[in-house]
This record gives sequence, structure tokens and C-alpha cells, in this order.
Amino acid sequence: MLARSKTCAIVGLDGTVVDVEADISPGLPAFHVVGLPDTAVQESRERVRSAIRNSGAEFPMRRITVSLAPSDLPKSGTAYDLPIAMGLLMSSGQVPDSLNGSLLLGELALDGTLRPTPGMLPMVAVGKSAGLKRVFVPASNAREAALVHDMEVMPVESLAQLVSHARGDSQIRSFDGKLAPAGGADGAVKESGRWPDLADVRGQEHAKRAMEVAAAGGHNLLMTGPPGSGKTLLARSLPSILPEMTPDEALEVTKIYSVAGLLPAGSPLVDRRPFRSPHYTISNAGLVGGGAVPRPGEITLSHRGVLFLDELPEFGHAALEVLRQPLEDRLVTISRAQGTVTFPANFMMVGAMNPCPCGYFGDSQKACSCAISSVSRYQRRISGPLMDRVDIFVDVPRVEYEKLVTPAVAESSADVRSRINRARSVQWERFAESGLVTNSDMGSTEVWDHCQLDSSAKSLLQMAMNQLSLSARGFHRVLKVARTIADLAGSEVVKTSHLAESLQYRPRPVM
Ligand SMILES: Nc1ncnc2c1ncn2[C@@H]1O[C@H](COP(=O)(O)OP(=O)(O)OP(=O)(O)O)[C@@H](O)[C@H]1O
Ligand SMILES: [Mg+2]
Repeated sequence: MLARSKTCAIVGLDGTVVDVEADISPGLPAFHVVGLPDTAVQESRERVRSAIRNSGAEFPMRRITVSLAPSDLPKSGTAYDLPIAMGLLMSSGQVPDSLNGSLLLGELALDGTLRPTPGMLPMVAVGKSAGLKRVFVPASNAREAALVHDMEVMPVESLAQLVSHARGDSQIRSFDGKLAPAGGADGAVKESGRWPDLADVRGQEHAKRAMEVAAAGGHNLLMTGPPGSGKTLLARSLPSILPEMTPDEALEVTKIYSVAGLLPAGSPLVDRRPFRSPHYTISNAGLVGGGAVPRPGEITLSHRGVLFLDELPEFGHAALEVLRQPLEDRLVTISRAQGTVTFPANFMMVGAMNPCPCGYFGDSQKACSCAISSVSRYQRRISGPLMDRVDIFVDVPRVEYEKLVTPAVAESSADVRSRINRARSVQWERFAESGLVTNSDMGSTEVWDHCQLDSSAKSLLQMAMNQLSLSARGFHRVLKVARTIADLAGSEVVKTSHLAESLQYRPRPVM
């Protein structure tokens, strides 16, 4: 007998509804899954077998074929357990075919309970766009599934519970938003926690201002300075001034964390901008994404947030090179034998480095012990093309004793953040129709349209072009940063003072 149920396959962040057909025919006991299943789906057979037995049902000892259609789409992950198990129970006549038109998703434990399963949000969203109205998910994923509106979410504790529901013996009630205990929003992004406040950082006004401009316009930032001057501390205080996420952005980021299996069960919506700081020993695949079944890398986990690369020159040459393309395109494409997968990667890159191997090149008090050749070799580790993608360069010099001992008088992060939020809303209005989000997203056409200079600013720019030997890309970057500075000042046109500040953030030729 043949039974059908529906589930979902995810490739990258997108998905397709998959028909699961289970057929039981006479013959020697066998259990085959066809339709490009990967290892995790193949192993589903063992989980399903045990789960059925431990749920008081009978595992059919005949010839079983399970087909996953469309058959040319690679299937991965563990969400197929539930539809396969239900398919077997229906085709062996143990359960009536009463779940038609519902999506079934979830990994089974051997005892028949349903385990939290990654990728729930994008899968449910796909089911909805395919016109399905109801989804059965592991109870621990119900809150996440319910982020998709107009979909009836049915939280399932165990296979036995769903069997009893399908037989009409008992009813599973649809999720009403109160089932799972609410967790702290702080847990939403793995690395988040309590961030230092800008007011905790003494001195460094210039660097703080650069961070404010960077956060307001989504610009890439590189901080250079001697050891212990507060570069890491400054970067770690960045989350406290990052602008709020729009509901759309929050959903977009949550999808990524869902597929990566990094959502906490209690409060699945990621409503704070991600801040990721991978160690420099990270592999290229870990950084940009990869694997046999492509998984999002750090650049995708930083989407709409910050990728902080501390000790930038220590990252391998290859790692920095693979960042070039995503920094430009704001997405990453991973090619595999079965096709390509695209992940979004629109992040703000923040780097920190010492100016030389000993760290004291250009320091006001301590002499640098490095040979000139080793200083330039150190700085060359970060290639020109990558440097060209940095919008804002800032020196973070040693803090003077007086500034460290006097009580803090600095502005708090909350004040800075409210300015940044205002500058962001100006940008949302500006780009409402174009699909861009921040000034840093502008292409050359938009730069032309939105960065109108007054006449004295024009002549300043011409002078600077020659003196700083700006590349065409560098030229656009100066204008985009100047646009953000004008937005922070609430000015429609880009004035000389805005442009002058923007030019300060260009790198000075070293030697
Ligand atoms: N401007 C500052 N205000 C207050 N505390 C500071 C400041 N700069 C440094 N510190 C203190 O010094 C510690 C080390 O600073 P931090 O790790 O940010 O230095 P760094 O510039 O990243 O150095 P390195 O180049 O060695 O990585 C901080 O945790 C903080 O306690
Ligand atoms: Mg540091």
C-alpha cells in the first residue's frame, strides 16, 4: 500500500516542498530510501525503526521503499524522520491517512520523542508559500515555527502523541504562543552577552567618532594602534551602539541562525544585530561557509551585523583573500557538484591590528624595535585590494595617564545609539524604493544621485584625489562616508566639513 505525506528540503536558505511516498510490498524485509538522500537521511531508517517500535506501534517486516520527490534535489538533515515514520504507519494501515495537506517536520529520538531540528523557520516559510496551512513540528521548535504568520503550528512531543492524534484518540492543540518558556533575548546570538558601554572607554574620542560613523552607515572599519590602547575594548562596545533591526531584518537573520542550528529554543527570534569575532585560526570554510552540505560561515552569521577580525594580519593570506568577493557582492556563492548555494553576507567588517610586529611603530613613548622592512612586510600581509574595501581607517593611540585616572565624562552608548538610529532612518527613507539599506550599500549610480557636494567641497575633493592618490573605489568610499556624516548631522547636502572629516579616515601613506 502507498502513503503520501509532505515535508520540506532546504538548500542554502531556500527550500522546496518534498513529497514523501512510502510503499510497503510483499517480499523479504528491506528498507530503502531513494531520492538523493545524504548520510543523515539514510540514517533516518535506523531512527525511524526504533522510534516506531518504542511508540507502541509495529515496524512492518516487509519490503519498504520510501521515495523523496523531486528526486533530483539533494536531501540532507534529520527533519525527514517524522514524515517517513508517519508514511510507514499509514501505508501499513496502522494510522488513517488523516494528515493530508499538513507539513511534517522533525527528527526522532530512538525512544520516539521529537528532537529540536535546525532550519525550522525557512522550512515552514516554504510550506506556507506552497499554500499549506498546517505544520506539525517538534514542540521545542514551535515558537520558532510560529514566526511564520498564518500557519497553524502543531507542537508534537512524540511520535506516539501524533499517532494518537491521527487516529482521533486525542487532540494536539495548535500552538498559542505560550507553550515554551521564554528565554532571554540575549541568548539569541551565541556570542552576545553583556557588552561594554562606550562610556567605559577612556579617551579615544577620535576612534569613538569613527565607530559612530561606521555603525551609522554600515561602513567597514580598521583600527590600528599599540598593544593595550583599547582596540579590542572599543570593538566589543560596538554592539551597544548598533542600530535597531527592522522586523524584516530580524526575520532574515533568524533564518540564517535557524539553518545553522544556533537558535535557542526559548526565544528564537534574533532581534539584536549579530557580532561575530572568529579567531584567526579559523578555516576558510568556517569563515565564508562550505562543507558537503553547504553551511553558512561567519560572514553569513554576521549578516546585518558585525564581523570583527581582531589581530587582522594574523588571519592567513588565503582567508583575507576569500573575503574580497563577499565584501563587494554582499553575498557568497558556494559551488558544489549538485549545484550552487548562495548565502547573504551583508556585514560590517571591523578589523584591529598593531602597526608592526612589536606593536609600537609610531608610538609616542615606546620605541619600535622592528626593522623598517619588517614593518612594511607586516602591513603588506593585508593585501591592497582588501585595504581598498575598508572605508574608515582610524588610529587608536596610547591613552594618556590623565585620561585613565579622571572619572568618566564620556557620552553613553545609549546617546550615541539614538543619533545612529536617526541617521539610519534617514537612510531607510532615502533607499525605500531601491532595496538598499545603508549608505555603504550604494553603487556608483546611487553615489552620483545622493552625494551632492557644494562647490567648495568639490574643490576640496579634487585636491584630495591627487594627494591621497585615491582609486575609483576609494573615491566612492570617501563620498559614501561623507554622506553618512552629513546624515548624522541632519544635513541634506554634503558640506565641506563632512567631506573633510571623511577624508581624515583615509589611510595615510606609510613610508
Ligand atoms: N581607552 C581605555 N579606556 C579604559 N580601559 C582601557 C582603555 N584601553 C585599554 N584599556 C584596558 O586595557 C585592557 C586591554 O585593552 P585592549 O584589549 O582593548 O587592547 P588592544 O588595543 O586590543 O591591545 P592589543 O593590540 O594587544 O590587542 C582593556 O580590557 C581595558 O581594561
Ligand atoms: Mg586586542
